[in-house]
Amino acid sequence: MSCFSSADESAHYGFSVCMLLTQYREQLGWAREGVVELGTGDATAIADVVAGLPELRLRSFDISATSVERARENIAARGVADRYTVELGDFFDGADSAAGEVASTVIANPPYIPAPDRDILMPELWGGVYGNDLVLQLLKAGYRNVVTAVPSYADPETTVRTAEDLGYRVANFLAMGLDYGEYSSEPKVRDHIRRLVAEGRGWAGEGEYMVAVALFTQDPDIPGDRAGQLLRALQITT
Ligand SMILES: C[S@@+](CC[C@H](N)C(=O)[O-])C[C@H]1O[C@@H](n2cnc3c(N)ncnc32)[C@H](O)[C@@H]1O
Repeated sequence: MSCFSSADESAHYGFSVCMLLTQYREQLGWAREGVVELGTGDATAIADVVAGLPELRLRSFDISATSVERARENIAARGVADRYTVELGDFFDGADSAAGEVASTVIANPPYIPAPDRDILMPELWGGVYGNDLVLQLLKAGYRNVVTAVPSYADPETTVRTAEDLGYRVANFLAMGLDYGEYSSEPKVRDHIRRLVAEGRGWAGEGEYMVAVALFTQDPDIPGDRAGQLLRALQITT
């Protein structure tokens, strides 16, 4: 087993989570309830966010034992182990078992590598045939606020329309262009992405794509309905 490693993608995720938590601080209520996270990875980006927001408590899950081990080291090195905890296991089995108040906000840079099957470089990053299985599962998990990465090549239109059907609006997002990393560059994955794009299920350039980290909310007190802007930022024309 390995640990997810992609410095620019993780940095974008961490920066965007920090921006969105700060911008919507009162409405999200995270200082009171805490936040849960699907997929810790090596934890570096979010550990820095926790270090910078002294009232933030985060409970995170990862199915990769190597990731959990590294994450705990990195979290301890940043001195935030009392506020950023990591558990080994499937988020969907563990997140509801927290004692005390249940968080209404979940954050994730979820596995989103699209491929015909799980036999890829890091199987824990498989997002299903269209890449959006985990984000769809997260949207159906009952959180009022979902802050998640949405990649342009993983059928983002289905993600956004499913979110709308579930009563979410895109309150805001931060988008960035990324070059393919080692996981998207794997020939089997690259060819599959090409097929998805040809089918109209996403966008990718020659070795590049877009990722947005978006706040989906069901909270009527949070303004904004930026689904169209999000899809355009991901190069999707509807
Ligand atoms: C794209 S990586 C992101 C890691 C980290 N958040 C970052 O951005 O650097 C996704 C992570 O989710 C983990 N993962 C996959 N399925 C999971 C599940 N069902 N529950 C918890 N973690 C999962 C993978 O092992 C991987 O570490």
